Amino acid sequence: MVDKVKKIWMDGGLVEWDEARVHILTHSLHYGVAAFEGVRAYKRADGGTYIFRLREHIDRLFDTCKMALLEPKFTRDEVMVACAELLRVNGMEDGYLRPMVYVGDGAMGIYAPQNESRTSVIAWKWGAYLGEEALKSGIRTKISSFARHHVNISLAKAKMSGQYTNSVLAKREAKFGGYDEAIMLDASGFVSEGTGENLFMVKKGKLLTPDLASSILEGITRDTVMTIAREFGYVVEECRITRDMLWTADEIFLTGTAAEITPVREVDNRTVGAGHRGPITERIQSRFFDIVRGSDEGHPEWLYKV
Ligand SMILES: Cc1ncc(COP(=O)(O)O)c(C=O)c1O
Repeated sequence: MVDKVKKIWMDGGLVEWDEARVHILTHSLHYGVAAFEGVRAYKRADGGTYIFRLREHIDRLFDTCKMALLEPKFTRDEVMVACAELLRVNGMEDGYLRPMVYVGDGAMGIYAPQNESRTSVIAWKWGAYLGEEALKSGIRTKISSFARHHVNISLAKAKMSGQYTNSVLAKREAKFGGYDEAIMLDASGFVSEGTGENLFMVKKGKLLTPDLASSILEGITRDTVMTIAREFGYVVEECRITRDMLWTADEIFLTGTAAEITPVREVDNRTVGAGHRGPITERIQSRFFDIVRGSDEGHPEWLYKV
């Protein structure tokens, strides 16, 4: 259960948590065209609260709107200011932010161009997405029977709500099978990503991650990890990955705003590496947490002060 906070930002104003309602005819609820983001804010060692890579998240929100032909009524800067304001009014030193642009009620039917575009931001407290223990010990995964969307069937680069039925089905299948997370292949059978995370594998000291044409969401944590890894001197390659490459990988980890950097200790009942968080995963994870909530000043451009 999400713990209530005081306010939610809706269409330019702050409303009480319990009053943040939409009509049942809300178009996006029926047809799934809504752009959204997941963003984290962290309390850092200096005592301040910083939203991690807010600009990039809001840029992706607006890119999703563009791809889905949604027209936000607010500017990027206004949505960014709303995110910070929401954390302040709710007295939150850290938390998760969910900006969303969606189609309101009015006409029904697939084509309803007159329906108003609406924008909201929700904030809530969210701990480790796959559990605190998972960050240390890693998770058990299974290749899903559900493939990621083919690029001509949906918009792999958009973070659009209706597409997440694919993730929900894959996640449920994995959980019902006793696993923690699903890994999805693309429609050609190459490794794509998790249900809400990008994937990295390590082989002989080199990092590999599915390329942008592998039906992945272009993750902001993925970009963060590629930057950190290259700063450490590792070679990072964006390429096609097959499932048997995963089975013989030295290390695997998933990245995402919610999942942060979560090691994978098993794929399809095959142990990954030594069966626990590998040394390269740990090194990158540790730098990541130092940047987001420690005192590492390496990337001030990634931090938006609340
Ligand atoms: C399907 C999917 N892939 C990857 C990611 C990771 O993206 P990011 O690191 O920008 O949160 C997410 C989370 O937004 C996601 O939903």
